[in-house]
Amino acid sequence: MSAFDDIGIDFGTSNTVIVTEQKGIVLNEPSFAALDNEKGRIIAVGKRAYSMTGKTPKRLTLLKLMCRGRISDLETARATLKVFLQKAVGGRHIINPRVSICVPASATDVEKKSMADTAFCAGARKVFLVEHPLAALIGFGAGVISPEGKMVVDIGGGTTDIAVVSLGGTVIKKSVKCAGNDITESIIKAIASKYKLLVGELTAERIKIELASLSEPGDEIKEEIKGKDLISGMPRRVIITQNSIYKAVCEKAVEIVLAVREVLEKTPPELISDIHTNGIFLSGGGSLLKGLDRLIEKSLGVKAVISSNPFECTAEGALKAVKMSDMLKDGFEQVSSQRRG
Ligand SMILES: Nc1ncnc2c1ncn2[C@@H]1O[C@H](COP(=O)(O)OP(=O)(O)OP(=O)(O)O)[C@@H](O)[C@H]1O
Ligand SMILES: [Mg+2]
Repeated sequence: MSAFDDIGIDFGTSNTVIVTEQKGIVLNEPSFAALDNEKGRIIAVGKRAYSMTGKTPKRLTLLKLMCRGRISDLETARATLKVFLQKAVGGRHIINPRVSICVPASATDVEKKSMADTAFCAGARKVFLVEHPLAALIGFGAGVISPEGKMVVDIGGGTTDIAVVSLGGTVIKKSVKCAGNDITESIIKAIASKYKLLVGELTAERIKIELASLSEPGDEIKEEIKGKDLISGMPRRVIITQNSIYKAVCEKAVEIVLAVREVLEKTPPELISDIHTNGIFLSGGGSLLKGLDRLIEKSLGVKAVISSNPFECTAEGALKAVKMSDMLKDGFEQVSSQRRG
């Protein structure tokens, strides 16, 4: 990487993705840090920290750096982003890069400022903020500058960001606090209620990815899981069916679909017609939930297209946005370094 490369960052609720112009994706790791409470310092970040989920002794605290797209602990977030950036450029010196970083569509000025400050503290020379949906569409290569409406639904871990974009700017947007992690939580509750078994987040996450489906779930599709018996407190294994978690998964998916419908209802007719032609673009890891694209199509009568790189397209879009900065409007801004203090 050259010393003056631009960098695109999606500091997400679940994952942090960093891309550079020269090397493409240089980092994709969970947005987690593990802290040693006695020594008051970070002992692990990213994948290593995430692997400690549900297993930490009292002396260690596992921190999710972002909560629904917002920084939850500013100091740790800054320190972790610095480590991520150093990892991303392979130990080489980054000389004041231009950093383009994603923010939720509903971020307040204070939240935007703290995201920009985090990037400045991690070594950025210039900071650009790009709202998630606009970044996702640019990452898709969807062509956001033309006078043609494009709709995107970015389903992350903590937030679903929905927007209609035309002429380089966001026309309508909505963020909802219902996304991938809420589906995982509702799977934990469904297993507890049906099987009287408590499972951890990592197990529920695996079940969501491997077993959950919104299209014609069956009793014959099963998976064995291990957890803690809610009555005896002892370890137990059960075989759960796809059907047994269907309702829990479906309820959350319907919440997302209803939010998309709301945005469509508020969209002016010319743009609606474009969306009907172009389809709805889906990005974010949550869009990979089996059958979600079909559910959107069936409920809204518009085809849904999942990104070929749903985890990385927002960071890639943020990076590309820097080169398009003259043409971008609502949803994109350059932060002057005066805002640092
Ligand atoms: N195959 C899959 N099926 C369903 N969900 C999945 C799949 N793979 C990943 N996910 C979910 O995607 C979510 C993470 O997606 P992503 O990395 O886009 O989120 P993020 O950008 O970190 O979050 P946010 O945008 O809310 O800040 C998690 O909830 C994860 O469980
Ligand atoms: Mg995201």
